[in-house]
Amino acid sequence: MTRFSSALLGLILFGAAAALPRAAAETGAEAWLRYAALDPATAKNYARLPGQTVLLGDSPVLRNAQQELVRGVAQMLGRTLSSASASPTADAIVLGKLADVHALVPGLNPPEQLTADAYWLTNSRVRGHECMVITASTDRGVLYGVFALLSKIARLESVAALDEVRHPYAPLRWVNQWDNLDGKIERGYGGPSIFFAGGKVREDLTRAGQYARLLASIGINGCTINNVNADPHILDDNFIAQISRIADVFRPWGVQLSFSVDLSSPRALGDLDTFDPPDPRVAEWWRKKVDAIYRQIPDFGGFVVKADSEGRLGPSAYGRTHADGANVIARALKPHGGVVFYRAFVYNHHLDWRNLKNDRAKAAYENFHPLDGTFDDNAIVQIKNGPIDFQVREPVSPLFAGLRHTNEAIEMQITQEYTGQQRQLCFLVPMWKEVLDFDMRVDNNATPVTALVAGRVFHRPTGGFVGVANVGMDANWLGSPLAMANLYGFGRLAWDPNLSAETIIEEWTRLTFGNDPLVVRTIAALQLDSWPVYESYTGPLGAGTLTNVLGNHYDPGPESSEENGWGQWHRADHDGIGMDRTVATGTGFIGQYPPEVQKFYESLAACPDQLLLFFHHVPYRYVLHSGKTVVQHIYDSHYEGAERARDFVSRWKTLAGRVDEDRYRDILARLEYQAGEAVVWRDAICNWIYRLSGIADIRPRTSDLGPRTSDVRPRTSDLRPVDRSDWIYRLSGIADIRPRTADLRLPCLVIHRKNFARVTTALATH
Ligand code: GCU
Repeated sequence: MTRFSSALLGLILFGAAAALPRAAAETGAEAWLRYAALDPATAKNYARLPGQTVLLGDSPVLRNAQQELVRGVAQMLGRTLSSASASPTADAIVLGKLADVHALVPGLNPPEQLTADAYWLTNSRVRGHECMVITASTDRGVLYGVFALLSKIARLESVAALDEVRHPYAPLRWVNQWDNLDGKIERGYGGPSIFFAGGKVREDLTRAGQYARLLASIGINGCTINNVNADPHILDDNFIAQISRIADVFRPWGVQLSFSVDLSSPRALGDLDTFDPPDPRVAEWWRKKVDAIYRQIPDFGGFVVKADSEGRLGPSAYGRTHADGANVIARALKPHGGVVFYRAFVYNHHLDWRNLKNDRAKAAYENFHPLDGTFDDNAIVQIKNGPIDFQVREPVSPLFAGLRHTNEAIEMQITQEYTGQQRQLCFLVPMWKEVLDFDMRVDNNATPVTALVAGRVFHRPTGGFVGVANVGMDANWLGSPLAMANLYGFGRLAWDPNLSAETIIEEWTRLTFGNDPLVVRTIAALQLDSWPVYESYTGPLGAGTLTNVLGNHYDPGPESSEENGWGQWHRADHDGIGMDRTVATGTGFIGQYPPEVQKFYESLAACPDQLLLFFHHVPYRYVLHSGKTVVQHIYDSHYEGAERARDFVSRWKTLAGRVDEDRYRDILARLEYQAGEAVVWRDAICNWIYRLSGIADIRPRTSDLGPRTSDVRPRTSDLRPVDRSDWIYRLSGIADIRPRTADLRLPCLVIHRKNFARVTTALATH
């Protein structure tokens, strides 16, 4: 079949699909807050839910909590809650801070003390009426309690006889957005910024408010709205006034606004000829700036700082330390209760790759460990989960155990920069769980990373979790409906890192797709399988994501890692592969871990297969714990991964008719696309490893493929969006016939991700 006739078939299929009647569209905009109507029989289980609400106290957050309750109950149960003030006149749901509840029911005390943001859901007789009480020590806690109750109803949990206190694990649960002031988002795959357009804050901030609602519903209490590669102009006086409008739409949801700043701002904005942190003029500049911000945004959260990293200026310009840089800002924020998150993602990207002792992984620890104890109490060192950069698998950063007298926070990436960019399915909660549960064995005691980052181990005043989210204007926020599980999962883990990945994904699926057991089982299983599958064809044995690290961080490009200063090396040559990071013969990185962990990773015999190539350089015929050689593992995992990715499609198809048509087709098209990408990856990596090692796959499959699909595929960046109206006109430009499923001999039409739902795929046999 020619390229054009395939395309024509695609057009015909598209036309036919467009003529079919559609179920009510689900855009994904409501995410996990759909509050879908329960069928009448199920709704009966909630018949005893009181019909009245009583709001004690008054604040924008409390009013929002009450409105959310009324909205959720109306949508799910079809009941309109009435409202009474001050005291119930019938059975009621009473909302309010504990102090106000006490005024009504003096003896009502929670089984444990309510820390900030914690909530208590309970039942009590109040002035002769049966009441459900949602209370907390803060307004925000009451709001969280409302969301918890509504989530239970949406997931069909019983809410009779409730008596539960829920505490957040850590005080700081923030997301970072990497939005630029021009409206683009660095590593954003869900459309343009919801905050900025054309160098200004958007006029219409409806989406920003909706985002804050989503964040609040999972317990996120802070949002940094701009790129860590910060534009100094965010600190212009007229810009702060604009930003205060964003804070206004965050406030009713208890989300504190923060922004990233450039440490060189005092000079970059032309006010001073220096930004040297200890210079009193610099300190004064920051103080005045911060005071001006708090005048307009009284609940401002603070700043995020990226300095001396990837070309950003920093304290090293004056021979100062990162603590000097952090503290000058922290001191300006202190009187207002603000904090500064100072990023540990500091490394030299001009490392000499010829020197086998050089190692980017060592940078964070080398830069920050010596400064332990010199950061102010309202400064937090924000540490990426791994020592490199959000790869598909990395060990945990040793710096988590290297700061005893400094606040820390873990930074995890919700936006799938190195993990499929939302075009491929990769549910990251299982990966984050491995990181958070990892036992650092500090002083030979059980020390999970979670406890370190929450400040529990060394009794720090604060600490927590940061997720790089990068939602955008796309209706479904992240650009893909299934990717939203990562945002949900991040929030849930930040609230309670002891939740299992299984629990989280079941919750999310029920809330997002309803309670049909087959739907829940199928989607949850797909999500749980997706990280290992993605890893199996993109990043074997801890070698890092073998992507084009100099370009889009998406396509296969293993050669791009080597022979440059960026330090994402895997050291693959003709004899072997892997970075020797041992203390004995390698870069010494392993020496940054506490002794028990060192011992474990230093030993080839003990080192787990999945991180082998992160820590050791081994010959291709080295035999893994699994009994396979390294090279055979690479062949097998890529073939198995591609096969499993193809199975995702048939697994998804079992849900036809059970998921609304729009999301069904959108996800189907994405999974079909992913199946093709997995083959592209498989062939590229198997070809590469064969060329390097000269060792053939023991199974005959790698030798019969002829030209690699990766050699002939268009670059993703060449694809442009297609609109229904100019479908034919643009066909030649945006859609390509790609022999992506080489094993099935099916060409396929590649279209821009935005149009998956409408155009879907057109597959045709030769
Ligand atoms: C990665 C990412 C950059 C980002 C950087 C950071 O390197 O590719 O876009 O700026 O991380 O976290 O600062």
